[in-house]
Amino acid sequence: MTNEYAIVTGASSGIGLEFSKLLAKKGYNLVLVARRTDRLEKLKAEILLTDKIDIQLVSMDLSEKEAPNELLAFTHKNNLTISVLVNNAGFGANGEFFSVPIERTIEMLNLNMVTLTHLTYLFGLEMKKNNNGYILQVASIGAFQPSPYVSAYSATKAYVMLFSEGLDFELKGTNVSVTTLYPGATRTEFFEVSDTKVNSIIESTMQSPTQVAEIALNAMFNRQRSIVPGFMNKITAFITQLSPRKLTTWAAAKLMH
Ligand SMILES: NC(=O)c1ccc[n+]([C@@H]2O[C@H](COP(=O)([O-])OP(=O)(O)OC[C@H]3O[C@@H](n4cnc5c(N)ncnc54)[C@H](OP(=O)(O)O)[C@@H]3O)[C@@H](O)[C@H]2O)c1
Repeated sequence: MTNEYAIVTGASSGIGLEFSKLLAKKGYNLVLVARRTDRLEKLKAEILLTDKIDIQLVSMDLSEKEAPNELLAFTHKNNLTISVLVNNAGFGANGEFFSVPIERTIEMLNLNMVTLTHLTYLFGLEMKKNNNGYILQVASIGAFQPSPYVSAYSATKAYVMLFSEGLDFELKGTNVSVTTLYPGATRTEFFEVSDTKVNSIIESTMQSPTQVAEIALNAMFNRQRSIVPGFMNKITAFITQLSPRKLTTWAAAKLMH
């Protein structure tokens, strides 16, 4: 058993839950963070059936300003050395911008951008001091173009892209890397949480969260700057980045509406 811990935010469902299981299989001890304690406890029990690791659970609302400092204090109090940070917790306050209560949009900005940046600072700094660490940032394929009807959500993911890829460059020459994951539609609770109906085009391209998490962790341990999981998503991302923004905005609007 290694002495190193991996933090997974948003571990209670979807891609985060799969990250947790896969990191356990690799022998990492885990700090699992989300709001739903019962889900975290169930996951812990499931993992401990097969993997001899230590698992710490932290139930907290990561959209709260003090959450990152509290998580850091928890790891210090328990003497945990963090060598992997998976910034996965996130949601989409989807719909026409003016139809979504502004408080919900601000909660999303806080979780998807501010907390992600704060956690990267706190735990990234420790990794830099130890010259050892991996950071995985969960963005979205929606980061590559404006997406009407999920405008603010896709903008949060564009922030994650620009921030994380820039930071990875800053860390060149160290043993700390930042990998950004750009998932396409993935079969999780994401659409339920954002109250979004999935149309048949999106449904037909959906990947499983296990597939996405596996591909992402391989990229992270290879210290890749970025990863788009799946052939169709790769093609879409490639075409999107080469096409005029006016056209990709129109196409995204058609798909989202
Ligand atoms: N599914 C997709 O199609 C898709 C596509 C592109 C990108 N993504 C991104 O992938 C990441 C994971 O999402 P998912 O698809 O796995 O969705 P999910 O099944 O809804 O999981 C989201 C996770 O985030 C946690 N979370 C949400 N709000 C939180 C808060 N305020 N404090 C703490 N934890 C919070 C949830 O836990 P609790 O509710 O228990 O707190 C849950 O564990 C997100 O960043 C999402 O934007 C998803």
